[in-house]
Amino acid sequence: TLLNVVVDHKLKIEGFGACEGTLACSTCHVILDESNYNKLGIVSDEEMDLLDLAFGLTETSRLGCQIC
Ligand code: FES
Repeated sequence: TLLNVVVDHKLKIEGFGACEGTLACSTCHVILDESNYNKLGIVSDEEMDLLDLAFGLTETSRLGCQIC
């Protein structure tokens, strides 16, 4: 996942991935361009529930721990 990339490369993004991908936060919220967004699979109900809590939600928002 994108979260794994951040962790594996020791990228320092303040607060990113606080729940370590267990779908209990929304700190891994990312906004994609439409082209990349459309390449991803559908958003699960669980991901959508958390996205609703994300700051600055857009039509192309996803959770970084749910996308590969
Ligand atoms: Fe918490 Fe993605 S890391 S929902």
